[in-house]
Amino acid sequence: MARDFAALASPGIRGLASYDPGHDIVALRHRAGEHGLLELGGNESAWGPSLLALAALRSELDTLELYPDPRGGVLKHALAEAFGVGTDRLLLGNGTHELLMQVAQVFAGPQRPVLVSRYCFAVYPLAAQAANARLDVVEALPKEHPAQPRGHDVEAMIAALRPEHGLVMLANPNNPTGTWLSTAQLERLLSAAGPDTLVVLDEAYGEFLNQPGCESALGLLRKYPNLLVTRTFSKLHGLAALRVGVLVADPGIVTVMERVRESFNVNSPGLAAAAAALKDTAHIATVLHETAGNREALAIELRERGGFVHPSQTNFLLVDFGTPEAVATIDRGLLARDVVVRPMRGYGLPSCLRITVGKVEQNARLLMALDAVLAESGLHLCAAAGTGSVKGTGP
Ligand SMILES: Cc1ncc(COP(=O)(O)O)c(C=O)c1O
Repeated sequence: MARDFAALASPGIRGLASYDPGHDIVALRHRAGEHGLLELGGNESAWGPSLLALAALRSELDTLELYPDPRGGVLKHALAEAFGVGTDRLLLGNGTHELLMQVAQVFAGPQRPVLVSRYCFAVYPLAAQAANARLDVVEALPKEHPAQPRGHDVEAMIAALRPEHGLVMLANPNNPTGTWLSTAQLERLLSAAGPDTLVVLDEAYGEFLNQPGCESALGLLRKYPNLLVTRTFSKLHGLAALRVGVLVADPGIVTVMERVRESFNVNSPGLAAAAAALKDTAHIATVLHETAGNREALAIELRERGGFVHPSQTNFLLVDFGTPEAVATIDRGLLARDVVVRPMRGYGLPSCLRITVGKVEQNARLLMALDAVLAESGLHLCAAAGTGSVKGTGP
């Protein structure tokens, strides 16, 4: 009989389900027809990396036999300049996923629970469980909320805060909802958190947030020593494959987290490309401008087809198609046409799909495929009313 090795794992790991990456992208790529696979499921950048980043990466290929710089010095200096902070406030990670797991490993545990909102990024519950920490989930705003449907309810989070909470983890803007919080809301939360509660503000999509009264939390670091901000090179900078993330916090927090960092956790091509990407302000401006424009145009099209599109300040849209059955039909139909989006069942949103904003021609292909699926299935969407039914048979 096969041995139950899981029984030997720590209690948290025993109860853990590993991260669900969604569709098998590699298998789908192999299967795709002549137009190739349109990948709109991972919130990656349709614009790809900066040419400066690619040149920097190539220059590292001659020295692959050498370990990377364990201090990440070049990237840290570039980040310190870009963020206006000292290098002693920076901790580099193999993507922010690694940093989020590490922060829970260090600061959460059986007596130090983690507070999150419903519909938070999937890694937070994973990180809490792996650290044997209890997860306290605060109900999100309702779908009917006029400004931030299913967004984080900051007042409810403040009410749920307890001195024993080791961590509060939230993303601004949030994945998967795309919703966002103002600086004033964040400050209310930060002021309410006790001195022993660390607040992790995940700004994976922070650069896309362009609303009055919404600044990066990087500017709050000096005022709130218990604030940790994370940023990634996987989204705006189009370097998801290289796995580079950064955590910015009080030097004391960085020092203690350094103790569990694997010494060569960020590879040389990643370090070099990320440092160069920060300097390519023209590429950054193009990606931000085109993403915002294409996102709003795509949102209009999806609303016209009956989808409930959550407002978004990110590079993706969360779309409620009314019912899990409608989502299954659309997802299946899109896949048959080599278009990948992300079903949200794992996030407790079974009537939703998350769709990455692409270039104009990619969004047009998505909409054409969607129209074909709707016509073929007879699906009639009226997600604002919470229905997605086949004509004549539904409510
Ligand atoms: C909110 C949020 N945080 C962190 C990450 C992880 O990013 P990275 O590629 O840096 O691990 C993602 C990726 O989708 C995300 O959506």
